[in-house]
Amino acid sequence: MNFAIIGLGSFGIKRAQAIKNSKTAKLLCIHDISSKNLNKGKEILKVPESSYEQILKDKKIEVVCVCTPNKFHKKIIIDVLNAGKHVFCEKPLAKNLVEAEEIFNVAKNSKSTLQVGSNHRFFESVRYAKKLVDEDTIGEVLSFNGRIGHNGERLKDTWFWKKDISGGGTLLDNGCHLLDLSRFFLGNFVSGTGLTSNVYWKNIEVEDTATGVFTTKEGRTATIFCSWRLLSGYFFFEINGTDGYINVDGRFDTHGGDKIFWSTKKDNKFYSKDFSHIKPNSYQLEIDNFISNIKNNRKCSPSAEDALEVMRMINFIYKNN
Ligand SMILES: NC(=O)c1ccc[n+]([C@@H]2O[C@H](COP(=O)([O-])OP(=O)(O)OC[C@H]3O[C@@H](n4cnc5c(N)ncnc54)[C@H](O)[C@@H]3O)[C@@H](O)[C@H]2O)c1
Repeated sequence: MNFAIIGLGSFGIKRAQAIKNSKTAKLLCIHDISSKNLNKGKEILKVPESSYEQILKDKKIEVVCVCTPNKFHKKIIIDVLNAGKHVFCEKPLAKNLVEAEEIFNVAKNSKSTLQVGSNHRFFESVRYAKKLVDEDTIGEVLSFNGRIGHNGERLKDTWFWKKDISGGGTLLDNGCHLLDLSRFFLGNFVSGTGLTSNVYWKNIEVEDTATGVFTTKEGRTATIFCSWRLLSGYFFFEINGTDGYINVDGRFDTHGGDKIFWSTKKDNKFYSKDFSHIKPNSYQLEIDNFISNIKNNRKCSPSAEDALEVMRMINFIYKNN
């Protein structure tokens, strides 16, 4: 499949490298409004630039990968879908729920596919946890409890701090990964609430800390905590079931790699798997999976609807603050 990328900042480069390394994809061109970032991208990727209008017009381009700040997702996604091309957009789907619904309505009526990045579904530990759950190892899943965060330094004084561009803080940055995973394991949430605060990065327009509590119609619950000042590793969550539990330990920067632990009442033994010997490959697995879903006419995971539901969960929290 022939790709173009719009937005060549930190994540545009990561996505571009995954596309270039894919056996089923070809990166035809790149576009960025910043000539500095565009030139850097051209040098690293050895791919020509193109204009926005030319990308939309070019019949050879089948997929556009959108890696711009959140504010620009809506216009670009809708333009690309209307041009008859598939879209792979970085998370979050949009800067707020209203824009996300607008995008979803266009995607729903389009023959093209929209998938929103959720590379955490492709971590080895998370894939293994999903396999255990699908094989009924821990029985019926009852609850999900997780936390995610980083030290926040990379985002200092960038567009991530500006509400008009980002739409929100840690929830839209790293929180949305955990929200997506909680739905991945528990299903859809019908209600939720939460709190946001600024505990470390003061006098900025968006929250640096947030918590959320959600319930499904069956009464399953998810609790999440996300932060822009967390020094003890990146993410960690537990899934509790009627017959056992699973812990996913993605504290790879402080606790030596991606790992999973589980136990069930069948034998009460403590099992574990350590994936730290595998070079992180979630972007590669995710882009290959996206292409394969399109080629085989399969529903994407996560789907555009999954991305919309994550925005609804974030809105449950923002509405309460
Ligand atoms: N998957 C993840 O874990 C993850 C992590 C961080 C960021 N992201 C997401 O990736 C996206 C980009 O984040 P980033 O950290 O790479 O930001 P960044 O600031 O490093 O890069 C954004 C790039 O987009 C360009 N740009 C801005 N407006 C544009 C426009 N209208 N048209 C074309 N180019 C434009 C900028 O010049 C810049 O080069 C965001 O949506 C963010 O939420 C995902």
